[in-house]
Amino acid sequence: MISTQFTETFGVRHPIVQGGMQWVGRAELVAAVANAGALGFITALTQPTPEDLEREIGRCRDLTDQPFGVNLTILPSISPPPYDEYRQVIVKSGVKIVETAGSNPGPHLPMFHDAGIKVLHKCTTVRHAVKAQELGVDGISIDGFECAGHPGEDDIPGLVLIPAAARKVSIPMIASGGFADARGLVAALALGADGINMGTRFMCTAESPIHQRIKEEIVAADERQTELIFRPLRNTARVASNTVSREVVEILDRGGQFEDVRELVAGARGRKVFELGDPEAGIWSAGTCQGLIHDIPTVGELIERMTVEAEHLITDRLGGMLDRVSV
Ligand SMILES: Cc1cc2nc3c(=O)[nH]c(=O)nc-3n(C[C@H](O)[C@H](O)[C@H](O)COP(=O)(O)O)c2cc1C
Repeated sequence: MISTQFTETFGVRHPIVQGGMQWVGRAELVAAVANAGALGFITALTQPTPEDLEREIGRCRDLTDQPFGVNLTILPSISPPPYDEYRQVIVKSGVKIVETAGSNPGPHLPMFHDAGIKVLHKCTTVRHAVKAQELGVDGISIDGFECAGHPGEDDIPGLVLIPAAARKVSIPMIASGGFADARGLVAALALGADGINMGTRFMCTAESPIHQRIKEEIVAADERQTELIFRPLRNTARVASNTVSREVVEILDRGGQFEDVRELVAGARGRKVFELGDPEAGIWSAGTCQGLIHDIPTVGELIERMTVEAEHLITDRLGGMLDRVSV
């Protein structure tokens, strides 16, 4: 077993996290992750109302007696969801871990900490990680340029971002973006992280509540088949490459504005991708690590495989190299 300050602080067996995923982070997946000894997050805003979130947390509790958390993503929005109400539901539900993302975690901390909730804040730069640490979060999840979703605007991949952040972050830190196997886990630990967060890899598991055809698309895709949309608007998102995402890139590169792509990027279309299994129905998040994904295992098989292989990598491959040097 690999034990780190993350596993100790957050009370989970393995240093592996399933971060919030819109339309994907539902009870089935989160409970499977929890039952496998890793830390899964229900995505609050996938639930249309705070009452639905309350029910989803209850559903997850029926499926696992292990710890799990809730992701609260706060992004700029024309008509923001009732964040306060979602936050109140999280507190009332008794969930003890929250993943915040998308904005300054400061305003949420007093309420969560007063309720004994640990906060894992996800960000994409060293300066934001340092700021969150100063504000008093309990852990950092830092997303490199490889990641699905929002990689920020600095374009620093994990190989540099993780050790740069590790130098300045003393609380538990999870490396995110581009991780899909045991090699990535061991590399993240070597780079100074206390564990890894995976999105795309968990999206492509048996328990992930999306259409089988999309999982097969991920297996078939390689590391080049993503697009960075919204770059000119400085709100970059890494998504699967398809006719819709390529059109969005083209329109914005020609000087188009958000209004010109609004219909193409509509969340309802992205949701259809996952429900109907039509990869061309809209925009959907996927990371470069799809090039490392070659199967659709159960979450239990995935975690077991990764943790066993990681231990072999550390003791046999890396340890074996030390032996060779000493003879
Ligand atoms: C389909 C999908 C939806 C996502 N939605 C969210 C979200 O709502 N909030 C969030 O904080 N991160 C979201 N993410 C990002 C993941 O939590 C994670 O940070 C990212 O996937 C890590 O990169 P990886 O895919 O290379 O593992 C999403 C990722 C995917 C693949």
